[in-house]
Amino acid sequence: METKVSEIADGVYRFSTWVPDIAPPAGFVFNQFLVTGDEPLLFHTGLRRMFPLVRDAVARVMPVETLRWISFGHYEADECGAMNEWLAAAPHAEVAHGQTACDVSLNDMADRPPRTLQDGEVIDLGAGRRVRYLDTPHVPHAWEAGLLFEESTQTLLCGDLFTQLGDGPALTEGDILGPALAGEDLFHASALNPTMGATIRRLADLEPRTLGLMHGPSFAGDCPGVLRELAADYDRRIAEAVGLETLQRAA
Ligand SMILES: [Fe+2]
Ligand SMILES: [Fe+2]
Repeated sequence: METKVSEIADGVYRFSTWVPDIAPPAGFVFNQFLVTGDEPLLFHTGLRRMFPLVRDAVARVMPVETLRWISFGHYEADECGAMNEWLAAAPHAEVAHGQTACDVSLNDMADRPPRTLQDGEVIDLGAGRRVRYLDTPHVPHAWEAGLLFEESTQTLLCGDLFTQLGDGPALTEGDILGPALAGEDLFHASALNPTMGATIRRLADLEPRTLGLMHGPSFAGDCPGVLRELAADYDRRIAEAVGLETLQRAA
């Protein structure tokens, strides 16, 4: 396996590892993102067993010991399995996440105390880079879920949203919605819940210019539009799951 490195927005790097054994023959990618600055931030640590690969890839961009912040979508192995390996490799690094993640998992599981972020709180990384933390509970899954928006490049690091199979290009303006809907049909990875459409539309309102998908290519097309289409599809799935039309007819 190899980890490919690409700059997907000014000073925002994508590290991508394709694993052919998951859902062959298309395979499945795991991506991490580095936002550079005086205080560099890594979004997703990668799986614990993938740490040497990802560490060596990050080292092609900057010395790993200069990493200052570690964050991720939610508490799962692919998002944060190597969290403590990164804390050991970067002595000044801190994990940063929302209140729920810290209270439920990170205060215990992280080898150093995490920094708790409130919804909408910004970490100023210096050199013009600012990342805003957004609570996205249960979207697409996990109570503690949250995402980051880098304001200077308008890059939304959107975690497991749009999860899809295959090893596409690093950055595309092509269709990411169709493959994401197919991925949802296959994995059923999303925790369908009544507020998820609204949560995703709130992300669209940030007007991102680039989306950093954890499992898929980064996207540089109409980001607010494709987020609203994803939200609408979840609304449809939820209505279908609860038999909303049947309920409305009965009322
Ligand atoms: Fe996940
Ligand atoms: Fe993931």
